[in-house]
Amino acid sequence: MGTVYEKTVTSPVNIAVIKYWGKRDTNLILPTNSSLSVTLSQDHLQSKTTIRASPDFEKTRLWLNGVEDTAIEKNKRLQNCLSETRRLRKEYEERLRKDKNVDNVIPLSEYNLHICSENNFPTAAGLASSASGFACLAYTLSQIYELPISTTELSKIARQGSGSACRSLFGGFVAWEMGFQDDGSDSQAVQIASQDHWPELEALICVVSDTKKDTSSTEGMQNTVNTSTLLRHRIEHVVPLRMKSMIKAIHERDFQKFAEITMQDSNQFHALCLDTYPPIFYLNDVSRAIIRVITEYNSSNPERKLKAAYTFDAGPNAVIYTTSENVPEIINLIAKYFPGNENTRDYFSDPFQLFVGKTIGE
Ligand code: DP6
Repeated sequence: MGTVYEKTVTSPVNIAVIKYWGKRDTNLILPTNSSLSVTLSQDHLQSKTTIRASPDFEKTRLWLNGVEDTAIEKNKRLQNCLSETRRLRKEYEERLRKDKNVDNVIPLSEYNLHICSENNFPTAAGLASSASGFACLAYTLSQIYELPISTTELSKIARQGSGSACRSLFGGFVAWEMGFQDDGSDSQAVQIASQDHWPELEALICVVSDTKKDTSSTEGMQNTVNTSTLLRHRIEHVVPLRMKSMIKAIHERDFQKFAEITMQDSNQFHALCLDTYPPIFYLNDVSRAIIRVITEYNSSNPERKLKAAYTFDAGPNAVIYTTSENVPEIINLIAKYFPGNENTRDYFSDPFQLFVGKTIGE
């Protein structure tokens, strides 16, 4: 038996405040616009990946939440991440042998891998499972291969697994710069501000439903690219300005501006879905009720200050951003409007879950 090498890594979820929706290159996963997200703490939502490498493994295998995926050869995104990191490992091994005269370099690039990946939350329910999952895969690969590359470089590999995954490699506030090169060499994630820049910011995650969504992000966004006329307007005239204003709001810890852009961008993303032909519906009655409750909450205080901001990804679950002082009030509000009684039970997964998480990742 040869030695078995092993690494385990966990990765956080990120929730975009300026949404990525649309690819200009579906193979390399190059987006039609830049996006920006906040990385959540790993208390409630996290992916965990263990990779083993051994000269005795007969083939590379993958287990997702304990079940083996027996068709990984057809999984192009996974194969892209594997071949890219393997290529870098090979280069690194050659460099060690030649330039540094190390003669006992372990030929890990030639070994097959056993990859086990799991999420501690519902997969594909619009809770960014592919983001944390592929970020975790890319990061574990870079660790087991000991790749001497920066996090931003690594983000270009995670991006090829799932676009939003590139943002989960950083904590805090993260931009995915769309880039302009056809080879994707400048389409990467960069950290805008670190985890401790805005400690008062909190994220409340309302799990409205944990069932798998009807239209995947991947399929939905390409239907939007092919049929929506609103998308062009968003790409050219909306997102570039919003990216600038959002970065400024984050640097200045300006919750008013942060909340306004977050809600506007979530609304526009769902407007894009409706502008897609045939239309895509991700929000349900509970999602829309949450929008109404938060809007009412923001306009009912004497100074009309925004105290909370909702955002929804490709599913009905809400993420509410707020600052620490308002958390108890918002939890009471949600509990008041959405008690688990007979009338509302149909809408909720049982039990309705509200996670309160710091918006800080590692
Ligand atoms: C609505 O990253 O899941 O969450 O690149 O096809 O894997 P693929 O799509 P994915 O799309 C995420 C879309 C979104 C918005 C966002 O996270 O920016």
